[in-house]
Amino acid sequence: MNIQSGMEDDAMLVGQAQIWRYLYGAFDGMALRCCVDLRIPDIISNNNRPTTLSEIASGIDSPSIDVDGLKRLMSFMVYRKVFDEEDGEGSETIYSLNHCSKLLLSSTNVTLAPLVMMFTNPVIGLAINALSQSVKEGGTAFKHTHGEEFFDFTLLNSGFNRIFNEGMACTAKITMDAIISVYKDGFLGSKGSVVDVGGGTGVAISKIAKTYPHLKGINFDLPHVISTAPTYDGVTHVAGDMFKVIPPTETIFMKWVLHNWSNDDCIKILKNCRRAIPKETGKVIIVEIVQHSTEDDPFNYTRITFDLVMFAFFPSGRQRSENEWKNLLGECGFSHYNIIKIPALVSIIEAFP
Ligand SMILES: C[S@@+](CC[C@H](N)C(=O)[O-])C[C@H]1O[C@@H](n2cnc3c(N)ncnc32)[C@H](O)[C@@H]1O
Repeated sequence: MNIQSGMEDDAMLVGQAQIWRYLYGAFDGMALRCCVDLRIPDIISNNNRPTTLSEIASGIDSPSIDVDGLKRLMSFMVYRKVFDEEDGEGSETIYSLNHCSKLLLSSTNVTLAPLVMMFTNPVIGLAINALSQSVKEGGTAFKHTHGEEFFDFTLLNSGFNRIFNEGMACTAKITMDAIISVYKDGFLGSKGSVVDVGGGTGVAISKIAKTYPHLKGINFDLPHVISTAPTYDGVTHVAGDMFKVIPPTETIFMKWVLHNWSNDDCIKILKNCRRAIPKETGKVIIVEIVQHSTEDDPFNYTRITFDLVMFAFFPSGRQRSENEWKNLLGECGFSHYNIIKIPALVSIIEAFP
C-alpha cells in the first residue's frame, strides 16, 4: 500500500467521523430534553435506589410507553455519561443518577433542567437554522426566523418569556454560589444598595441580599420581566430601561447582560452605570465570559460556542476577551478593573470609576 495515500485515507476517515459526530450533536441536547420532559431523573431519584427500566417506564405518565424506545434512550444517555448503569438482580440493567443527571432533577434548588427546556425549545432550534442567512446578509438568525429581535419576542410571547426567565434563573442560582464562595469580601465592603441591572426575575440579587443582609437589593429589568418576578426578602423590583436610566446606587451587579449587546450599546449601558454610582466609592461588578484559551478547562468548548450563540440571537452580541473588556471599560471612564476567576463558565470583572 502507498504510505502517503494510506495516511490520507486515515485522515479522511477521521474527518468523516468528525462530521457525523458534529451532526448528531443535536441529539445530545434533544435527548437531554426528552429525559427532563419525561422526568426520568426524578423517577430514579424518587425510587431511592438504582432503578430498572420497567420501574422508569411505570413512573412515566403515559398509558402507551414505547419501552424499546426508552431502553434505547437510556443506552444513549449512559453512553453520553448522563446516567450510570450496572447489572442488577438477574442481570437486569439498573440505572442511577450521577453528577450530570443530578443536575436534571426538577425540584431541587440546584438544577439545570429549566435551562435544558429553554435551550432546546423550538423557538431557539428554528432560529439556529437561519445562521447562514445571518452570515450572508447580516442581521440575527433569531430575527430572520421570528421577525423580532430576542427581547421584543419575549415581550410579545409570555410563554417563551417564562421559559427564558426560568432558564436564566436556574443558572443564576448555580453561578451565584460560585461567585459568593470566591468573592465574599467583594460584597462585604459594599454599602447601601446593590442594583442588579438586567437581573431577570431576581434570583441573583436575592442571593446577594440573603447572604449580605446589610445590603438592600434592587432588581432592575424590563417591565414584562419584572411583572413575572416573585417576591424576595430584602429585594425591591424596579422596572425600567437600562439605556435610559439606572437607579442610583453604591454598587451595580450585572450578569450576562453586556454579552447581548454591541460595543456601542455596551458603552451606553456602562456610561449609565457610571452615572448611577458615586465616583469615590462606587463599583460595577460585571459577570461575563472572558474568552481565553486555558487548556483543560471544562468550559472552553462552551465559551467558544457561546460566541456563535450570541451572533445568532442578538444584534452584534458577542463574548469578549480581556483586552476587549479593558477597551470597553476604558472608553466609559472606568479607571481600573480586576478580573477574578471563579469555578464557573463566567468570570467576575470588577470595574471602578
Ligand atoms: C441574558 S439575560 C440575563 C439575566 C440575568 N442577569 C441572569 O444572568 O440570569 C439578559 C437580561 O437583560 C434584560 N434586559 C434586556 N434589555 C434590557 C433593558 N433595556 N433594560 C433592562 N434590562 C434589559 C432582559 O430582560 C434579561 O433579563
